[in-house]
Amino acid sequence: MFLIHLTCTACGLKHDWAQLQNLCSACQKPLFATYDLSEVGRVLTRASFKTRREKSLWRYRELLPLPSVTEPLSLGEGGTPLLRADRFAAKIGIENLWVKDESLNPTQSFKARGMSVAVSTAKHLGARKLAVPSAGNAGGALAAYAARAGLEAHIFMPRDTPRANIIECRELGAHVVLIDGLITDCGAEITKRKTVEGWFDMSTLKEPYRVEGKKTLGYELAEQLNWQLPDVILYPTGGGTGLIGMWKAFDEMETLGWLATKRPRMFSVQASGCAPIVRAFENGESTAAEFPDAHTIASGLRVPKAIGDFIMLKILRESKGGAVAVDDEEMIRVTREVGSSEGLFVAPEGAACFAALKSLLATKIIAPEERVVIFNTGSGIKYLECYREG
Ligand SMILES: Cc1ncc(COP(=O)(O)O)c(C=O)c1O
Ligand SMILES: [Zn+2]
Repeated sequence: MFLIHLTCTACGLKHDWAQLQNLCSACQKPLFATYDLSEVGRVLTRASFKTRREKSLWRYRELLPLPSVTEPLSLGEGGTPLLRADRFAAKIGIENLWVKDESLNPTQSFKARGMSVAVSTAKHLGARKLAVPSAGNAGGALAAYAARAGLEAHIFMPRDTPRANIIECRELGAHVVLIDGLITDCGAEITKRKTVEGWFDMSTLKEPYRVEGKKTLGYELAEQLNWQLPDVILYPTGGGTGLIGMWKAFDEMETLGWLATKRPRMFSVQASGCAPIVRAFENGESTAAEFPDAHTIASGLRVPKAIGDFIMLKILRESKGGAVAVDDEEMIRVTREVGSSEGLFVAPEGAACFAALKSLLATKIIAPEERVVIFNTGSGIKYLECYREG
């Protein structure tokens, strides 16, 4: 294994990876895994991926936690297709558009990536009971990997989470608690009870390894595009782990000398009814205030306050990208446009990115010749209550 320690994203303090860790012990900010990349570079090159390796995200094993003798918990996560979206692209007047279709993951969303790595590592380090606040998809993913690990899963969800997510968690054997409030209220409930209950807190960015799973989005994208990253990435942002993970992957790949091109401009896409990052970006702030009265059908984007806000805002600015908010009605309308032109029933969060692309083209922030990748983070099939039946 090439993981050497955990490093605080804010104050730089190092922590022991071999102990279960949540936030930095000094400043309560997220911890990142640090690898010995010069050693990785000695055993792994871009050519390594041309030989037979498994399709799942564990193909990047040298860049993930977990000792090499420990078997990861896998349901076949990752290895999702990068599809061209030519018919939709032609309609909106852009030359090169791809969709990374994350709905093909176990439990139908990209949350499987983070949970495969985080549950594997938590189990290895001795956790027995895992707890998470979830907008829906993270809960389903935790329930699945915890079941496979033989660990308890305690999932706290807002009462208005899509029904499919709630049912899925229960059928996967998790303990589900519905809360009258938002995901932040669910997180507060876990914080209050976790010591007494003996739960390990699996909240996004409050433990160090979900972001490691999510970073494989960046490695896969680079590999699928022959190490030539796109000009623009549009990403639906709630807690921000996907965006932050990809940027970490780009950092690591740059150190490894694997990148043939400059980095993409990163755009965070949120819902108009819950857009803390968009607001903070527009106001030139380095952290994001809690968004009042958060509401949107895109439950994964209903995150009024994110602990990784300062990391996201830094990435958006450093990459010369931006942040865009989309109305719920527009997400629903665009879902059918994408569905009928590309054959993909995208989650509202994914649809938000297609809608954002249209508006960024109209305002000339994105040019028609730029190479654009959209992440469809989940499947529309989990959100049936959002659609008309006619
Ligand atoms: C389908 C979907 N897209 C996007 C997000 C936001 O993800 P992140 O926390 O990585 O910003 C979520 C989170 O629940 C989600 O379920
Ligand atoms: Zn710190």
